[in-house]
Amino acid sequence: PCPDELARAESLISITPDFPQPGILFRDIAPVLSDADALHAVTQALAAPFEHGFDLVAGVEARGFLLAGAVATATGTGLLPIRKAGKVPRPDASVDYALEYGIATIEASGDLTGRRVLLVDDVLATGGTLRAAISLVEQLGGTVAGVAVVLELAELGGRDAVPEAHAVFAA
Ligand code: PRP
Repeated sequence: PCPDELARAESLISITPDFPQPGILFRDIAPVLSDADALHAVTQALAAPFEHGFDLVAGVEARGFLLAGAVATATGTGLLPIRKAGKVPRPDASVDYALEYGIATIEASGDLTGRRVLLVDDVLATGGTLRAAISLVEQLGGTVAGVAVVLELAELGGRDAVPEAHAVFAA
């Protein structure tokens, strides 16, 4: 992707203090998604390091879905939705994890034997979500071919939890 387009996309990320809780600086990629050029640049940048190395893109509900759909469509691959607890009727795998604020469980179903999965998400904060997603894909028999996020929040330690993550932007 063009560096200028990526720089412009980064400038669109909005920052809101004290949301959803006091002390949390909330970064939102929604304005990037609603700008056609920025969405294109970010989608390309997420997939580029892993080109031809994956055949399925997985994203965690809810914001990960948006990027997984875009990357899967752009790369001609399939999509694995990883859902929050209680949404999958007969989950084949379930993983509990801690969030930056709160706790959660993710679930999915299917046999991923022989599938190479690119995991994507909007933000890498503590890394709990992506570590859980890696574990979930492996429980389903898949191989994690790569991990890519739009924005890494460096001070929250996610890099230590997910050292293999490729971040398009860092803050
Ligand atoms: C947010 C974000 C990432 C995760 C990052 O999702 O979309 O998935 O937190 O945090 P972590 O690295 O500390 O795990 P959230 O669970 O808030 O759900 P949402 O996508 O529905 O907003």
